Amino acid sequence: MREQWGSRIGFILAAVGSAIGLGNIWRFGYMVYNNGGGAFLIPYFVALFCVGITLMILELALGHYTKGSAPLAFKKIYEKCEWVGWLGVLGGFVITTYYIVIIAWCLYYLVEIILFGLPSNPKTFFFNEVLNLSSGVGEIGSFVWGILLSVIVIWAINFLIVGCGVKKGLEKANKIFIPLLFLLIIILVIRGITLPGGLEGITWYLTPNFAVLKDPKIWLDAFSQIFFTLSLGFGIMIAYASYLPKKTDITTSAFTIALLNCGFSFLAGFAVFGTLGYMALKSGVPLNEVVSQGIALAFVTFPKAISLIPVGSVILGIIFFLALVIAGISSSVSLVEAIVSAIMDKFDISRRKALSIVTLLGLLGSSIYVTNAGLYWIDMIDHFASGYLLPIAGILEAIVVVWLFGGDKIIEYVNKLSEIKIGSWWKYLAGVFSPLVLSSLIVLDIYSLMHKPYGGYSWNYLGIAMLVIPLVFVVSFILSKIPWKSEVK
Ligand code: PHE
Repeated sequence: MREQWGSRIGFILAAVGSAIGLGNIWRFGYMVYNNGGGAFLIPYFVALFCVGITLMILELALGHYTKGSAPLAFKKIYEKCEWVGWLGVLGGFVITTYYIVIIAWCLYYLVEIILFGLPSNPKTFFFNEVLNLSSGVGEIGSFVWGILLSVIVIWAINFLIVGCGVKKGLEKANKIFIPLLFLLIIILVIRGITLPGGLEGITWYLTPNFAVLKDPKIWLDAFSQIFFTLSLGFGIMIAYASYLPKKTDITTSAFTIALLNCGFSFLAGFAVFGTLGYMALKSGVPLNEVVSQGIALAFVTFPKAISLIPVGSVILGIIFFLALVIAGISSSVSLVEAIVSAIMDKFDISRRKALSIVTLLGLLGSSIYVTNAGLYWIDMIDHFASGYLLPIAGILEAIVVVWLFGGDKIIEYVNKLSEIKIGSWWKYLAGVFSPLVLSSLIVLDIYSLMHKPYGGYSWNYLGIAMLVIPLVFVVSFILSKIPWKSEVK
């Protein structure tokens, strides 16, 4: 008997937990920031409706229809394409190995603030003390022990939650995590907008600058952010939907999950930009110059900004990093679950056994990023995993489901179950528009790689990082060739 969610709200919260992650607070923040503020929100919401909700419906329908994790789901709808399911799941595995390390940085930071207060110089603190970063990607050095310990703790938490199963583990944890997260972020929003300069920050955040909409980059950033933030492409929503009861409403769930997730990002934006506005005022630097790099927004600029606040800054620091840790864990458990459920389905082994394998391999994978050069490797691997594997998985998924299996069959299936009906437009958005948009993300990046190596890294190292793409393909093919233990149920 396949496990099931205890309630619909439990499923929604778990899916929202997967969607809301580090990406909503830190990646969303710097995407808005890099793209000149409020203007980004327009392509962001367009992407949400055209690609985000469309593919969310597709993944939920696929998981529910087949009652299987991604590989099983693809095998059931189109025998020869089981590997497409594995591709998503393995891409997710690659991301899990470093996503957990980033959560571990947040945990380390959190513990430091609790014990010693906010660092006086967050930049030196983060790069030298937390990461102990070497001078270049080739200088691997040795393990950074504090982070290694923190990584083990985060893997252990994932193990405990996923080990307790769908209802007692994932559902229960998210029922606590999600309300808590909203509470934490609301506190940060209220503080952010009531600070002097806060309203200027918010105005910058919300004022659209229509001129930048002509730049294709802002559109592509928006589409890639939506895809990442909704946890699409890795078979997570497929696995989560496979635990739904027979009668369920697919479109309403898709809308609810997507809107809660993007609403959370939108809200987090008030906290981030209100606080940055305050910092701009205090330091006399214009808002569009206070942040130097993407990653620095969460680990350097934000802590710096709150340290300027005369009262309660330590508490705010604790709330901010606690929110990051919780948002991160509620996403990482979904990544782990997608892999565990795939292995359970394929090899017909127990949850404990599958989870132990995934955790051991995952720890091994994470350890690469726990060296002095860890940040550089995360940056490079993330570029190829979320910049290539994620969209490739999405393109293949959309094509197999809409064109090889049949978009009309999905529409009929979804409409039979759901309150909000979808028309044949859905087929074109999912089967034509989404693959086109996702392909342009890849093409544009290849083009820019041809002109200059990503992040200024040398090609020797980028070449090694890039190997993750063929590797995932090869392992997907191999796994799909292994015969099923129990013939497809
Ligand atoms: N959606 C999560 C976030 O925004 C990240 C994530 C991506 C999780 C892909 C799972 C899969 O942080």
